[in-house]
Amino acid sequence: MDVYKITGGKPLRGSIKVSGAKNSAVALIPASILADSLVTIEGLPEISDVVTLQALLEDIGGKVEFNKGTMTIDPTEMMSMPLPNGNVKKLRASYYMMGAMLGRFKHAVIGLPGGCHLGPRPIDQHIKGFEALGAKVTNEHGAIYLRAEELRGAKIYLDVISVGATINIMLAAVLAKGRTTIENAAKEPEIIDVATLLSNMGAKIKGAGTNVIRIDGVEKLHGTKHTIIPDRIEAGTFMIMAAAAGDGVTIDNVIPFHVEALTAKLREMGVDIVEGEEQIFIPKSRNLQAVDVKTLVYPGFPTDLQQPFSVLLSQAAGPSVITDTVYSARFKHIDELTRMNADARVEGRSAILAGPTPLQAATVRASDLRAGAALVIAGLIADGVTEVQEIQHIERGYSSLIEKLQGIGADIRKVSISKEAIVGE
Ligand code: EPU
Repeated sequence: MDVYKITGGKPLRGSIKVSGAKNSAVALIPASILADSLVTIEGLPEISDVVTLQALLEDIGGKVEFNKGTMTIDPTEMMSMPLPNGNVKKLRASYYMMGAMLGRFKHAVIGLPGGCHLGPRPIDQHIKGFEALGAKVTNEHGAIYLRAEELRGAKIYLDVISVGATINIMLAAVLAKGRTTIENAAKEPEIIDVATLLSNMGAKIKGAGTNVIRIDGVEKLHGTKHTIIPDRIEAGTFMIMAAAAGDGVTIDNVIPFHVEALTAKLREMGVDIVEGEEQIFIPKSRNLQAVDVKTLVYPGFPTDLQQPFSVLLSQAAGPSVITDTVYSARFKHIDELTRMNADARVEGRSAILAGPTPLQAATVRASDLRAGAALVIAGLIADGVTEVQEIQHIERGYSSLIEKLQGIGADIRKVSISKEAIVGE
């Protein structure tokens, strides 16, 4: 069993580079199914979610090469093979195989997607969209069956603003007959990235990045080459680390506009932020002030940074309340932070923290991806050696985290320990 061992208190200094966006990657890779020739995607993060999606494409007959962040996908011999559990269960984004396979083959059988446990995560809006396009969707023995004679464009109003449903409906609609309109669509940069790839494959999409997206179906899509956008959540995680433990850190390969909600909150706390075109510099922070935060859909404060940000709030003077309006149960890290001496508690959809409290090293468990990132930040500022267990969650979403952090002076190592040493087992 691998764990991270972090010796806290080392000041972080220098430059750290952000990888390609995980939440784009997990949609761009399935989107390649819709093409009739080679699709090349450059700048992909080297994370286990990407490797799992590669395996899923291979499961349906795709020929895939993945080397140094560049994936080349030959979709010509893909077939609509059933994808039961196994790989599908390893990540939530396997739901994008539904939209892409439905779009290309008008037929798909896929196990229910897995992913982080953050409270209920239904996919009713995805299914509502597929049905509006003419698909029959049934749940049989734990797998979703999608079948359509043909897909026809439709007007779809999303009852909940959902990144996944917006992208999945785009994937299913690009080869449908006629016009599809998605109203109340999500506006995340990852949606624009997927629309850019699809447009370069020959799709007709207008309005990606606004709350109304119009798609005019085309007969076929061809291969293309695409460079992914930088990961705004990884960038945000590094910004929070720099504010918590930095002594002058430059975050490289970031689009400052994509992290504006975080930048605004950090400034409100008293953190200096110097924005360049593709860099953000954060000098050493002093006298952090408490703030209240509410997560919202983009361009609001991202739920994916709620857990890392709460660690910073434990170091700010005064009481802070952080409320997650997107996920009801994304607070499993709070128990672990209290084991490290944070003054924190959960009340409903909010975590209430009081600071500043010096953190003490402990053995803690990452319950999910961003909880893991939060515990790494806590370890970097805690007194002593923190052991973070269940790091497979972290490696689903952060590319070369150990090497990147070592590069700015962190004392963090990955070590193997025996199974008996795992907390609670
Ligand atoms: N929702 C529904 N019905 C649906 C879809 C969503 O009720 O059919 C609800 C969800 O339960 C949630 C909210 O709508 O309360 C937002 O869900 P959304 O569909 O936007 O989330 P997602 O597509 O499942 C993506 C990211 C998440 C990120 C959210 C919100 C991917 C693969 N995942 O999830 O990323 O938290 O958008 O921004 O893109 C992460 O990276 O750690 C992560 C969890």
